[in-house]
Amino acid sequence: MIDSNAVIRTYPDLESVSHAAAEEFTDIGRAAIADTGRFAMVLAGGSTPRRLYERLAGTSFRAQIVWDKVEFFWGDERAVSPEHPDSNYRMANDAMLKHLNIAETRIHRMPTEQPDLDTVARDYQAEIACVFDSVGDGEVPHFDLVLLGMGADGHTASLFPHADALRETKRWVVPTRMPQSDSFRLTLTPTIINNARNVLFLVAGANKAETLAQVLNGPYEPERLPAQLIRPASGATTWIIDEDAARQLPHHSLEGARGSNS
Ligand code: 6PG
Repeated sequence: MIDSNAVIRTYPDLESVSHAAAEEFTDIGRAAIADTGRFAMVLAGGSTPRRLYERLAGTSFRAQIVWDKVEFFWGDERAVSPEHPDSNYRMANDAMLKHLNIAETRIHRMPTEQPDLDTVARDYQAEIACVFDSVGDGEVPHFDLVLLGMGADGHTASLFPHADALRETKRWVVPTRMPQSDSFRLTLTPTIINNARNVLFLVAGANKAETLAQVLNGPYEPERLPAQLIRPASGATTWIIDEDAARQLPHHSLEGARGSNS
């Protein structure tokens, strides 16, 4: 059952999804920087956001944000080195960060190559709290934007079905396991994601269509469909999806032009 505040925008293909998401990113970022002098945002992993990141570093968008006001965090990370092909950090760095000359101090990588993921999670939470130093002790900070994807099993970030992380209400960051591959990960929890001012889901591909229809229009079953847990308390959720992923949704108007290389 969709969050009643959520907005769904459907585009012809991944290219136009990425263009629309880049526009949303820069709009939110400019507003945050104008309001607070900073844009604290959370990057999504997986493959869908790669094109968005490439566009943000490209000529159409890179001049639209004052990049030295942006603090980059991750929503989740695989327990691999930053050079590993599966690293969400590596994907974002290759597609965007290294092209924007971002200061290392504002790239908050999850150091999941370290063996004790529980300590890494606690240290990452402390790093978030340090950046949001104005936030009172224990108060959950408000990211300006959290980017998220959705897996065909309904997971988001590394919040997998039936995982303990789904029920975590105190910690902002926890270690978890990806059941399909029995691999370890770090993930932000719904507690901090739902405190974001803006959440942007990017979902593309026919393999997501059945699950997306269940997440948005089916019964509320967050243990089975963790993406349903994402309902920002006072923030806005926007789903930017392509036609293939939208095919099992009730009638949806198509926005944007195919490709949208403008
Ligand atoms: C990850 C992501 C994960 C991803 C979905 C969708 O680390 O894999 O955080 O939540 O967003 O699995 O992945 P694709 O974009 O590759 O379909």
